Amino acid sequence: MSVKIPRGTQDILPGTVEKWQYVEQIAKEVCRNYQYKEIRTPIFEHTELFQRSVGDTTDIVQKEMYTFKDRGDRSLTLRPEGTAAVVRSFVENKMFGDPNQPTKLFYNGPMFRYERPQSGRYRQFVQFGIEAIGSEDPAIDAEVLALVMDIYEAAGLKQIKLVVNSLGDVESRKAHREALVQHFQPRIGEFCGDCQSRLEKNPLRILDCKKDRDHELMATAPSILDYLNDYSRTYFEKVQKYLTALNIDFVVDPTLVRGLDYYNHTAFEVMSEAEGFGAITTLCGGGRYNGLVSQLGGPDVPGIGFAFSIERLIAAIEAEGIDWPFESSLDCYLVSLGEEAKDYTVKLLYDLRRAGISAERDYQDRKMKAQFKAADRLHARFVAILGEDELQVNKINVKDMQTGEQQEVALDQLVDALKTMMEAK
Ligand code: HAM
Repeated sequence: MSVKIPRGTQDILPGTVEKWQYVEQIAKEVCRNYQYKEIRTPIFEHTELFQRSVGDTTDIVQKEMYTFKDRGDRSLTLRPEGTAAVVRSFVENKMFGDPNQPTKLFYNGPMFRYERPQSGRYRQFVQFGIEAIGSEDPAIDAEVLALVMDIYEAAGLKQIKLVVNSLGDVESRKAHREALVQHFQPRIGEFCGDCQSRLEKNPLRILDCKKDRDHELMATAPSILDYLNDYSRTYFEKVQKYLTALNIDFVVDPTLVRGLDYYNHTAFEVMSEAEGFGAITTLCGGGRYNGLVSQLGGPDVPGIGFAFSIERLIAAIEAEGIDWPFESSLDCYLVSLGEEAKDYTVKLLYDLRRAGISAERDYQDRKMKAQFKAADRLHARFVAILGEDELQVNKINVKDMQTGEQQEVALDQLVDALKTMMEAK
């Protein structure tokens, strides 16, 4: 029996991997403009890190983590998201000591969640994310939102919607929480078991329940926006004012609740509105997490960030029918005829490659016609043809595959001649 790939994971094959490289490159360039620096943290962390940050009552921690004991009997977890690890590293490496704050970081790597796989939802997926830790200035919230929208714009996306909400500060959330308990308590028996246990521990989570989303009490639940205290309301207004000044379109949705517990104040998601994108429309999620650094043993500094998966970004680009701006190409294919010419191409190929010219030849002892076909399939820009006769007189024929023009050049001049022709292109 052959061994198959695990459910919810995928191989990114040549031909597709170029799409990944392209979007990752765009995201990195935008991060450079905004002065976010890359950080790489381990793929696994102590399980406790996610329990304490993402939250014990969340679906991620309760149902979706890949948790295992190592040989030293420690409980480790494949990271389900990036924020917890970045904050852990911020604290552990005392990045708060740097006089320039906030600390602005980005990451790009695999995350793992044991979810039910479907289109746009994988068990291993790659998140590109950023975190700005160390400032509670609404201008940073606007910067973070501007950054993600810039990435999407650079990728060519047009059919997207930015949705924002405020979850308020501790005081506002406390008042909202009490209102939620009062609202749901009398009829909590009509809700699922998860919601019943959430009522005491974390009633906000009820609003995020997938099973009970159509219950009539959901639509009439108290809105967080009615419970924001002055500070939280002013903060949220400032964020919106900045977004408007930047000409960034957004809608406020007071029902937006994120699936992780560490958020307060600004919370947001970016949705794809492209037809045919699929049932899951969220491209990106993020928000502010002001208590998280201190919760993980650091000083009381605030933070904000977002993450999106490369899988969903690529799917959104394809759903909008945007052409990929690249095709795999080859500078020169060496066609050779006869044993002596074939031997000669070993060194010639090496010289071309070391001169920065991407070059290929036949390794299957094929006839000339088949070699030309191979050159075509590889989208060769030029084909250089070396026969026994040419070799005798130290010449080689170069054919421009776009124009069909052919010219003879001296063998020891091939590298320079190709370089000139490639520049003239
Ligand atoms: P999240 O909403 O759990 O937030 O995930 C963020 C994004 O990761 C989603 O919007 C989606 O693009 C992608 N994603 C999540 N699960 C999957 C999956 N199973 N398959 C494919 N893509 C997926 C977080 O993870 C927070 N750490 C974001 C954040 C950063 N908040 C502050 N800083």
